[in-house]
Amino acid sequence: MPTDQFSVDGQNVIVTGASQGIGRGIAERFAADGANVAICSRAQERIDPVAESIREDGGTALAVECNVREPEDVEAFVEATAEEFGGIDVLVNNAGGEFVAAFEDISENGWKSIIDLNLHGTFHCTQAAGEYMRDDGGGCIINMSSVNGQHAAPNESHYSASKAAIIRLTETLAVEWASDGIRVNCIAPGLVQTPGVAETLGIQEDQMPPRETVDRRIGHTEDIADVAQFLASDAAAFMTGETVTAKGVPRPGNSFEVDLGLQ
Ligand SMILES: NC(=O)c1ccc[n+]([C@@H]2O[C@H](COP(=O)([O-])OP(=O)(O)OC[C@H]3O[C@@H](n4cnc5c(N)ncnc54)[C@H](OP(=O)(O)O)[C@@H]3O)[C@@H](O)[C@H]2O)c1
Repeated sequence: MPTDQFSVDGQNVIVTGASQGIGRGIAERFAADGANVAICSRAQERIDPVAESIREDGGTALAVECNVREPEDVEAFVEATAEEFGGIDVLVNNAGGEFVAAFEDISENGWKSIIDLNLHGTFHCTQAAGEYMRDDGGGCIINMSSVNGQHAAPNESHYSASKAAIIRLTETLAVEWASDGIRVNCIAPGLVQTPGVAETLGIQEDQMPPRETVDRRIGHTEDIADVAQFLASDAAAFMTGETVTAKGVPRPGNSFEVDLGLQ
């Protein structure tokens, strides 16, 4: 069976929030397949080692300090990418985060910080990169939602609301930008073993709790990189506006990934 259509070789790709976790996994995968990757995090000293590691493995990487909450940072990052690589083919809106709290305990600042990071960060990057894609005749955008954007997630109301909004934004942009040749899709991961999740749960990364799933298999960053590579490749040319769920095998009737209840 030919597999060339799954390749991202030669694509100019932006991955936000790539100093660790899922973003790093996606950046490393794309670079290993021959893509030029531009990666960012809030701190140059955290993103530089990822770029160096990619280069040591023979890949091409540009590392930029960029806070996706700040439109000026994002514009500079996107502009630097276009200048360095000569264009932008793929944007992966990965940067995101959360904290766990009952709704009544979330302050206005806390609520706004999560909406700002997850939703407005996606807005800023999509506005900036979308302009280049429209001018260049097309591209591909991959947004990062969550299974918690698809169903209720107790003690994560702010996160859940932001990730649900990202799904609807994906569907809307897929229609608005179809005539510009831009495909917009979304990934909704279940629980994936990352430093961010370990920090949220207050545990070591290798001490993830057993999952409420039939297979009890925890997700790995490579699982999500597989989906991202597919969505960015020509193999997904007939897909836009979709949210691809990657969560293992759920136990029938139990939609919750892990109990984040506050004892
Ligand atoms: N892991 C899961 O189980 C899971 C499940 C569903 C969805 N997701 C989603 O997948 C994405 C990645 O999750 P993860 O678990 O890999 O997270 P993670 O381990 O916490 O990594 C988050 C990444 O985002 C960067 N980042 C955070 N705030 C940023 C900002 N304002 N500007 C730029 N970069 C920023 C961090 O870099 P610095 O700290 O260096 O800035 C880091 O590289 C998120 O959108 C998350 O909501 C994760």
